[in-house]
Amino acid sequence: MIIVTSANGIVGIQAAVAILRDGGTALDAVEAATRLVEANPDDHTVGYGGYPNLLGEVELDASIMDGRTLHAGAVGALKGYKHPISVARKVMEELPHVLLTAEGAARFAAEMGFEQENLLTEAAAEVYRQGLSGALPADKRDWLNDGIAGNLARLARITADPEHAAGTVNFIAQDSAGNIACAVSTSGWAWKYPGRLGDSPIIGAGNYADNRYGACACTGWGELALRCSTAHSVVLYQRLGFGLEQACRQAMRDLAAATDAPEHAIMNLVAINRDGRPIGMTTVPGRTFVWMTPEMTTPVEEPRLVVDLTAKE
Ligand code: GLY
Repeated sequence: MIIVTSANGIVGIQAAVAILRDGGTALDAVEAATRLVEANPDDHTVGYGGYPNLLGEVELDASIMDGRTLHAGAVGALKGYKHPISVARKVMEELPHVLLTAEGAARFAAEMGFEQENLLTEAAAEVYRQGLSGALPADKRDWLNDGIAGNLARLARITADPEHAAGTVNFIAQDSAGNIACAVSTSGWAWKYPGRLGDSPIIGAGNYADNRYGACACTGWGELALRCSTAHSVVLYQRLGFGLEQACRQAMRDLAAATDAPEHAIMNLVAINRDGRPIGMTTVPGRTFVWMTPEMTTPVEEPRLVVDLTAKE
């Protein structure tokens, strides 16, 4: 049994471990842990308090996958609901679908009894106001008003903020029955174009779990993981016989072909193999990941292995 998470998941890991210790399922563990991160107003990359899109609206994405059945549920561009991970789980359990977005996702959340609330905190709104106008050169400030009235694409190209783009939370759990589940939740790229989805709600890009081989979840530039199906690649490379570290390295190396600026690319992943061995990998030196088993009293925070996307094959 094990729980693995991105560094910002530390606020949820003990709750997840307690569920596993009590004989709970991997699915329950990853959902409960993700909810604690989604409720944390100090985490501006996930849930309540997340940074908004270009129009100042918080739009959330999340996905959950059951490695026992390969069933999955996801929501994208969901506004007004603090716990997209729980709405995603309901999609998996109550609908013949995998992914709902925008108005459809919000309608479904209301039908399932989730409470609607304002997710934009004053702290996040202030960073948005300053970040947006600060990103525009002085002679282009009028683009703000023009853009919000019309040409948002021009604004998005200049203001989408890579410094605030990389946050998301990942949880992977393996329970006492050997079942694996994987959950991902994010508010996405700060000041994104409305309706933009990254990798987090896309099964195969930011989230994949299969009891037979392992699981992987991503944080970082969703556009890159989308282009390369990174989470699924990690699982597929294991299926093809790669060891866990080799599978992760190959999936990361695949990203180099999908970017013109590999030296700046930000991608991080956490993964386990089918035996529950954890790993964290990144393109940015100094990043960590966290894992814990029910026998432990405190989690371990470890440096991620670093992959240089500029290195020749
Ligand atoms: N990795 C999260 C996102 O790009 O939205």
